[in-house]
Amino acid sequence: MPAIVLVGAQWGDEGKGKATDLMGSDVDYVVKFNGGNNAGHTIVIEQDGKREKYALHLLPSGILTPTCIPVIGNGVVIDLAVLFEEIDGLEARGVDTSKLVVSANAHIIAPYNRVLDKVTERFLGSRKIGTTGRGIGPTYADKMARNGIRVQDLFDEKILRQKVEAALSFKNQVLAKIYNRRAVEVDEVMEELLGYAERLRPMVADTSLVLEKALDEGKNVLLEAGQATLLDVDHGTYPFVTSSNATAGGACTGSGIPPTRVSRVIAILKAYSTRVGEGPFPTELFDDKGEFLRKTGAEYGTTTGRPRRCGWVDTVVGRYATRINGVTDFVVTKLDVLTGLDKVPICVAYDVDGVRHDEMPVNQTDFHHATPIYEELDGWWEDISGARTFEELPANAQAYVLRLEELIGARVSAIGVGPGRDEIISRYPLLDA
Ligand code: GDP
Ligand code: IMO
Ligand code: MG
Repeated sequence: MPAIVLVGAQWGDEGKGKATDLMGSDVDYVVKFNGGNNAGHTIVIEQDGKREKYALHLLPSGILTPTCIPVIGNGVVIDLAVLFEEIDGLEARGVDTSKLVVSANAHIIAPYNRVLDKVTERFLGSRKIGTTGRGIGPTYADKMARNGIRVQDLFDEKILRQKVEAALSFKNQVLAKIYNRRAVEVDEVMEELLGYAERLRPMVADTSLVLEKALDEGKNVLLEAGQATLLDVDHGTYPFVTSSNATAGGACTGSGIPPTRVSRVIAILKAYSTRVGEGPFPTELFDDKGEFLRKTGAEYGTTTGRPRRCGWVDTVVGRYATRINGVTDFVVTKLDVLTGLDKVPICVAYDVDGVRHDEMPVNQTDFHHATPIYEELDGWWEDISGARTFEELPANAQAYVLRLEELIGARVSAIGVGPGRDEIISRYPLLDA
């Protein structure tokens, strides 16, 4: 069976967690392939007549489906304290986490990298990225600079000490001399990391091999991105991005599954746009409409609690996501949030200094002062949260989705009409029969 990739089309928080969870028992393996606990996925499940809310950061969303094997791929950066906190939190609520598999090649967020993330941001002042402060950037920087610490290093104390010593020999210079912070002791890092080793050991495997075998056996493997297309370090709004490849290409490098195995790419597109942290955002709203989207859509970060910046949907971004990821299917989420508006604008292109751009401008500077060109569609007032077929949507809501589909250039296979697991309209199956 083929592998399926699921990515965010915008700046994150599109509802990837819900979409993964939705495929639930049809998927045998869910693999997180990039990022770390900078991600935040809120999943709402109906259990014994009650709505249960789960917030996941590091664990793949498939962990909530009992039949699914969750995998943390080599492309992920792991904060071990967060990993075990999350596992314990889920176990306390009756979720079985015993099937979790962790790549021996995934990198570990060392305590000094959490510190460095925060002090670097403070140092940058007005030029800051607005990171989640979880140590993501410094850990990926170490990976590329070849002085990172991998999961497998925890099982060889001698090697681990050598690596921690090597890293601290210059990190401490930076911490003390540039940022005026206290130096970190090798022993203190060793103690923290080794403290997790025995608990982690049974979960660790060559996940690429595990996944190859699964695919050979005809299992369904879903590769789930953290973050999103415009936060991708190569294809996003650099430098206002995260430090990993959150686009479909990253699914292969971050999991060890070759591109020839991937048959579908599902992108999640929110029916409007949001962004957390700094960086350009052409359709951002600073008026009561922006506040309406924030309030109605409950747009506050799952990870940091920060209010999300809100704006209208941007189909230049959507089209770009289709191109960069090779999207075969879109899931449009949160259509219900747009209910009650007179007009629903769709950004179809940008005006940059009097020149129309139908595609993303080549230069970031142009993107920073792109003015959206809108098409205004009529809104709808009916409550759509109970709709389960496309035909049950009001005509104007249908027209909105169809126009989006036309502009982004790939079919809209499902539409979210509420946060719950069942609050979804399916137009085309997301998995091959
Ligand atoms: P992720 O990071 O892409 O997984 O998304 P987040 O979980 O950070 O943010 C998406 C939020 O929207 C979550 O609180 C979801 O429960 C919620 N959500 C997802 N789909 C829908 C939908 O169709 N309608 C509404 N109203 N909420 C949704
Ligand atoms: P999910 O998976 C939204 C943003 C941060 C910041 C930038 C860099 O929930 O969609 P980092 O800590 O990664 O170095 O921060 O990226 N960011 C996200 N924004 N959703 C996310 O994840 C994000 N992960 C990182 O706000 O602007
Ligand atoms: Mg999120």
